[in-house]
Amino acid sequence: MCGIIGATGTAAAPSFLIEGLHRLEYRGYDSAGLALVEAQGIWRARAAEGTHSVEDLEVLARTAPQGARCGIGHTRWATHGRPSVENAHPHLDCTGRLALVHNGIIENHAELAIGLLDRGHVLASETDTECLAHLVEEAVAEGTRLSRAVVRALSMVRGSFAIAVVHADQPGTIVAARRATPLVVGLTDDVSMLASDIPALLGTTRRLVALEDDQVAVLTPGSLEVATFDGDEIDPTALTVEWDLEAAQKGGYDDFMSKEMHEQPHAVAETLLDRRSPDGTLRLDDLRIDDDQLRSIDRVCIVACGSSYHAAMVAKYAIEHWARLPTEVDIASEFRYRDPVLDQRTLTVGVSQSGETLDTLQALREARRWGSRVLAVSNVVDSSMAREADGVLYTRAGPEIGVASTKCHLAQIVVLELLALTLAQLRGTRTPAQIDAVVRGLHELPDHVAEALAREKEVRDVADTLVGARDFFFLGRGVGFPVALEGALKLKELSYLRAEGYPAGELKHGPIALIEPGTVVVGVATRSPLYEKMLANVAEVASRGATVVLVADDGDDQAAGVADHVLWVPATEAILSPVVGVVPLQILAYQLARRLGNDVDRPRNLAKTVTVE
Ligand code: M6R
Repeated sequence: MCGIIGATGTAAAPSFLIEGLHRLEYRGYDSAGLALVEAQGIWRARAAEGTHSVEDLEVLARTAPQGARCGIGHTRWATHGRPSVENAHPHLDCTGRLALVHNGIIENHAELAIGLLDRGHVLASETDTECLAHLVEEAVAEGTRLSRAVVRALSMVRGSFAIAVVHADQPGTIVAARRATPLVVGLTDDVSMLASDIPALLGTTRRLVALEDDQVAVLTPGSLEVATFDGDEIDPTALTVEWDLEAAQKGGYDDFMSKEMHEQPHAVAETLLDRRSPDGTLRLDDLRIDDDQLRSIDRVCIVACGSSYHAAMVAKYAIEHWARLPTEVDIASEFRYRDPVLDQRTLTVGVSQSGETLDTLQALREARRWGSRVLAVSNVVDSSMAREADGVLYTRAGPEIGVASTKCHLAQIVVLELLALTLAQLRGTRTPAQIDAVVRGLHELPDHVAEALAREKEVRDVADTLVGARDFFFLGRGVGFPVALEGALKLKELSYLRAEGYPAGELKHGPIALIEPGTVVVGVATRSPLYEKMLANVAEVASRGATVVLVADDGDDQAAGVADHVLWVPATEAILSPVVGVVPLQILAYQLARRLGNDVDRPRNLAKTVTVE
């Protein structure tokens, strides 16, 4: 997964492209590059050093030709070929007059490369992408116009792509195309631009359109033509975007993660807004699946990855408990290959901050193939999942830039719990009074989350005592289990420490052998029907010498009695408690990562949005 950017008609193409690449860095930062088009040829610069390739590129761009008005750029998350300058995009064809950037994977690149080499091309990189530049080159050499040459090249590839191509023979034109990978076009009166996502363009325009799969776009200054790969011209659909650029910047915090953790009360409150009719019944406006269709559902499958998967696990408890609907939760990359049993009475829900994660997107497509109704939970308006699903529920967390998901994770739990309650309302498995009581509890969550955040200093003190620890177990039971998994994931991705999330009751079936003095056990011990059993499991590890840190409800002396350290949180009804309980674990991971000198916004080896398998 990578970020691509392009612009034509701007008086300052290099600085526009560099600024866009900075905003796209969360998609990957193994290398960065740009190509500027002039009639005499392509000017190209690329950088691939450490995690700051866009900064390095910015320095190189100071020598860019003055007056270049058209160009494309790329920030890379390496898949095929190591992070290096040779493998950095843009890639050129043999003539050096065509440059191309790509996000996605060309699955048949090896066989295409053999044919290209046979036909005398020279491949300068190890990437799957470069073959595309040469395939377009061949079509152009036969006299095909650039947009059709691109389509012809793409007809030979298998895989996913969003690409942008420029050619020195057409200095003001960018040709772009996509399949299964996002691409957005923005317009002003005299500039046309494109990017992998909306925030990269927000500073310049709000006139945006999203390209659909198998569409090709021709951008010239201030104008856009879109056609299908079959050659039919189409009128692209405009996007509605309410975010401002300010919302995508750090707002005074040291880093995006810190800012985004502190935005959590707001993210939860926004996600709860306007979800009730005047008579008090729940109403999910965006849903687009009517009540009768929802009543006919007899099973729910939820698919997601990473933190979104942990939110989905909480939803399973909520849907089964309140709506009494059998609910399965799957890792998206496993679901699509396991021959799932689905039909029109199954509701398949894809949970994704970005709405672009390829595994989740493909899992939803697989569900559709089986006739299932499909619902997307997305934070990004008009994301691929939102557009393709039968219905959509938006989390309203605002843009999340930090690679580690925080506010979107909380918003996902909240919106999924609203879905669970709506299903309970429709099915009559909970009375209006019971639903009302839970909804009131949900509305208390922003204050509870704010209180949990206000205890940052206490978590910092605990982090100080844990510096030097190398092995962590995160334990929980019931809804505490996904909280434990999320705590472990945050610690792994931010601090690079070994952290295992486990159901506390399962530990004695093997992993307890790993517990020894020096092991840190972080337990989620907020009040729930399994609270006593959880404390018994904690006693088992404490007696084997583990250092015990517990997340516990305010004033819980019993929990404090078995712990070395307590991370206090305001008490909440058990099934809502993950929204609050995960907050000190986010802070703990953040604090340990900072003490280890890690970049919390851009952890090594990761990218914000994973648009490859
Ligand atoms: O955009 P998505 O919610 O689909 O992303 C899913 C995961 O890639 C994501 O949650 C990832 O695990 C984060 N780095 C977690 O902090």
